[in-house]
Amino acid sequence: MATISKDAAFWSKISRKYAASPIGNMDGYRNTLERTKSHLKPSDNALEMGCGTGSTALLLAPHVANITATDIAPGMIEIAQEKLDQGGPENVKFKVAEVQDHARDNGCYDVVMAHNLLHLLPDLDEALTVISKITKTEGLFISKTVCAPNKTGLKYGLIRHLAIPVMQAIGKAPFVKFVSAKELERKIEDAGFKILETGDQAGTMLSRYIIARKT
Ligand SMILES: C[S@@+](CC[C@H](N)C(=O)[O-])C[C@H]1O[C@@H](n2cnc3c(N)ncnc32)[C@H](O)[C@@H]1O
Repeated sequence: MATISKDAAFWSKISRKYAASPIGNMDGYRNTLERTKSHLKPSDNALEMGCGTGSTALLLAPHVANITATDIAPGMIEIAQEKLDQGGPENVKFKVAEVQDHARDNGCYDVVMAHNLLHLLPDLDEALTVISKITKTEGLFISKTVCAPNKTGLKYGLIRHLAIPVMQAIGKAPFVKFVSAKELERKIEDAGFKILETGDQAGTMLSRYIIARKT
């Protein structure tokens, strides 16, 4: 619980800076957005967890019936709501919530999305259990997540075991826990999904884009 509230404070504190910084890999972002759109249906009731400042939810809204987009950080949701209030689509609802808060939304969603979120969660297995519980049978889970490389060399070791802990100690980095793409896929399957698409995005560390169907 302490990690969760610390992270909410961290992300809220940096929310305005996060909103102002350009997307690092615009081609990759556009590509995953298009791939995601191709799986959405006009009748879908969608949820995006860890939505940040809401840009993705606002872009995907015209392709679904409804989208609820949530984030642990009030600062992020405040910015998302400001964007919505400036004439955003009417089928979007933003609210402050962390992954576990959705545990009661039993079988509610046709599509659940988590972009750049899973590697930030202290308990990935627990989160995937919630995601499975709230996704309708035959519904989709769509995720983009930073993963550990298959071969972890010196550069990764220095980032993971030196730079990140130092940054965390001075409040400049949130909690992170990286698993390999293979392990992530196995965990998603163990949570009751069949992987439909999986692929890497270029970057310093692996960013894995996965689309999975609830069985
Ligand atoms: C790296 S940002 C990604 C934001 C957005 N999805 C994107 O791709 O730009 C991670 C987001 O996850 C949120 N977050 C972190 N831990 C969370 C949790 N336990 N539950 C819900 N959101 C969380 C943070 O507040 C932050 O907005």
